[in-house]
This record gives sequence, structure tokens and C-alpha cells, in this order.
Amino acid sequence: MKRELKPARRISGTIAVPGDKSVGHRAALFSILSKGPITVKHFPDGADVLTSLEAAKRLGVQVEQVDGGLKLTPPERLQADQDTIIDCGNSGTTARLLAGILAGSRLRVILSGDESLSRRPMKRIVDPLAAMGAELFATDGHLPMRVAGKKLLPFEYRMPVASAQVKSSLMLAALASQCSITLREDHVTRDHTELMLQAIGGGITVRDIKPVLVQDPLDPRKKKSVLPETFKKEIVLSAQAAINGGEIDIPGDISTAAFFFGAAAITGETVTVTNCGLNPTRTEFLDHLRAIGCQVMIEHKTTFSGELRGSVTVTGGPLKSRKISGDATVGMIDEIPIVAVIAAFAEGTTIIRDAQELRVKESDRLAAIAENLTRMGVKCGLLDDGLAIEGRQELSGADLVSFSDHRIAMAFSVAALAAVGPSSMDDTSCVGISCPGFYDLLLQIIA
Ligand code: S3P
Repeated sequence: MKRELKPARRISGTIAVPGDKSVGHRAALFSILSKGPITVKHFPDGADVLTSLEAAKRLGVQVEQVDGGLKLTPPERLQADQDTIIDCGNSGTTARLLAGILAGSRLRVILSGDESLSRRPMKRIVDPLAAMGAELFATDGHLPMRVAGKKLLPFEYRMPVASAQVKSSLMLAALASQCSITLREDHVTRDHTELMLQAIGGGITVRDIKPVLVQDPLDPRKKKSVLPETFKKEIVLSAQAAINGGEIDIPGDISTAAFFFGAAAITGETVTVTNCGLNPTRTEFLDHLRAIGCQVMIEHKTTFSGELRGSVTVTGGPLKSRKISGDATVGMIDEIPIVAVIAAFAEGTTIIRDAQELRVKESDRLAAIAENLTRMGVKCGLLDDGLAIEGRQELSGADLVSFSDHRIAMAFSVAALAAVGPSSMDDTSCVGISCPGFYDLLLQIIA
């Protein structure tokens, strides 16, 4: 559906956003392997997470609406007819995490997806799962993929790509097959799987590798900080690791809140999001906002089911540019579309590097961002692994394109709020992937 987008006179307000998509996927998919029921509060309403819930139902999980949430009851035995087809829709997280579960269970299932998901790489899970002894047959490294579950072998793996989906897929495969696994990460990725397993299960040990001070060999009077290992994190699941069941309360999705914080940032106004997820592996975007000149205030912090949350207030200010690369890019990989929009309003040139993963998301996000910024009159260079965005320009209203990608649609709907003249977006139905009520929420903060 095409949507007309008008500039806003004022932005201000307090809103709550839907539950975190990554945590929602894990709650739904954990129920497949759980020993007891899982009760989930604030289960998000986005299409992606409903895809994971539907997949759990197909394998025998019973889903009931109970007081304050959803009760997910695992089946006595996982069920699927030979060569059942499970449609993963647009959801990379469903496809990759479910492939892990199936690879370690005694089921034969075919995973399919929509056009966008069928273009996304699956080799990153197929190779390590095959090394554990799994049988997966992907179509030239893509969906559709046939998974024939097997008893898997203990496994040690150093992650070649920074990906929480791959990490979680392998952890779930090991859990399903009751074999031990050791995973090492060079870049720390979101840790919702680890936290959920600690909260409603057990058998997991996590070692964060912190720098230590040692004597500088070049000058014994000085100390220098070094990492005692060449990796940053080690996760060990024993063969006894298991999901027992319990209660999960899902915090608001910080990656959705980011679009509303972006609206405050580019207009110099103030927006508050209550009950916003503050898991430290997801807050890089808030650090970025501070670094470029916004005020970020956090209140009412609490932790439930391992996930920190609180009320976050962002106020825009004069914005400056910044170079973003390495861990900073990994830490806000889903927020890069709104980071790029904000960059267009900042003084100087923002450089984003090490973001090649964005080429294989729901769309080629680097190309999609460059296309829309250019349409709005912003000078933008497209790099192999990132973007160079020249800021402090007046953005012109334009005919924008979502590329059927929820995060592109939301980022550029926010850009249109601060543009000169009206804009339009070709198709905005894709926002339903993570935030079906996005435009209603936007109306709550627009004057
Ligand atoms: C996700 C991990 C990230 C992220 C995606 C959700 C997850 O993907 O971009 O939106 O829930 O594990 P990668 O693991 O491919 O980096």
C-alpha cells in the first residue's frame, strides 16, 4: 500500500513499542524443546515472530491465551509428518534457528520462505551443522532446504561471521541432540539465547573475555591492556543442558524504539519509550546517539527473565558526524538504516564500514539506503561494506521505496517527517514484519 508522508511540525511524546522480535522468536522456538510449559508476557504482534509461533504449533506445541500472556506447552514427542513443509515467510531468524532445532531432532522437514528469504544465505548454518553430523540439503546454499534430523556430535566452533542467528542455531541443535558444544565469538553478538537458557533452563557457561593489565615488555614501568584470548566470548553447553520452562516477560524492542528516537534526534525534540529493552548487546545505538550529540536518559531499570529494561528518553541536539566500524557496526546492525537517516542531518560526513552483512538482510539495505537518500537529495557514496553520507543538508520530500523491507520503510518514513515538502512511500505494509502499529505510534508523537 502506497502511503503519503507529510513533514511534522512537532515531535514529542511517550510511547510503548511491541515486544522484542529476537526475544519473541526465541520464546516461541524454545517451547519446541522445553520440558515444561513456557508462559510469555508481551509476546510481539509482528508477522515474523508469528511465523516462529506457527512453526512451533506445526511441531506439536499447544498455544493458549492465558491471563497476561501466552502459554506454550510442548508436546510429549515432537511431531511432523515425513517431509512436512514449514514456511518461514520473511523471517531469517525462524529459518536459521528452526533449522538448528530440526537438525538435532529426529524429524524430516522442508523449510521454505518468501522471495526475499529465499535469497538469503543458509550456508553459514549448513556448514557447521553438517560438521556436527546433521543432514541438510539447501538449494544452492538457499531455501528451500530439507533437514533430516540426526543424533549430533559434540562440537567446537569459532564463529567466522558475527551472527547471533548462527550462534543460536548451533546452540539449539546441541540442545535438541543433547550433545555438548563450545562456541567462540570474535565479535560479541546479541545474547538473548544465552540469557533465556540461563533464565528457564541450565547447563550453559558463558565466559566474557575482558582485557587485563600486563607489564609493557617495551617499558617495564608501564602497564598495557591486552585481551588474554584471541576471541571475545566463549559459550559452553554441556550435554545435560536443557530448557525446563518457566516465565518470560519480553521487553519492548529497542530496534523498533530506535526509529522513534531517530525522529527526536533529527528534529531536536524529545521522545520517551517505556519498558524498552536495554540488553547491553543491543544498546550500541544509544551510545551512538550520545556520541553524535543527543541526550539519552534511562530511568526505572529492572531485569526480568534475564533481560534488562527501562524507560528511555532521547532529546535531539546539534548533531555531528562519526566513523562507525567493527564492534560498533555489529552492535547496531539492525539500526543502521535509521543511523544513516540521522547522519543526513548531522554536520560532516558519516562513514559506516564493516556493514557488508546489510547486503544480505531482508533487502540489500546498503543499496536501499543509498537509493532513498539520493532521492531526498543527500550526497551518499555506496561502499562495498558501508556508506559515506554527507550531512547537514536540507532533505527534500521524495517518492521513496521500501524494497518490501520493514526497517527501510520505517527509517525513511521518519526521514520524511523532517524533509521539506511531502513524500510518499511505495509500499509500507512490510512494517507489519516487526511493528504492525508503526504509523499509529508515529501519530502519537506527531503534532
Ligand atoms: C537476529 C540477529 C541478527 C539481526 C536480526 C535478528 C536474531 O541477524 O540482524 O534482525 O534474532 O538473532 P544476524 O544473526 O544474521 O546478524
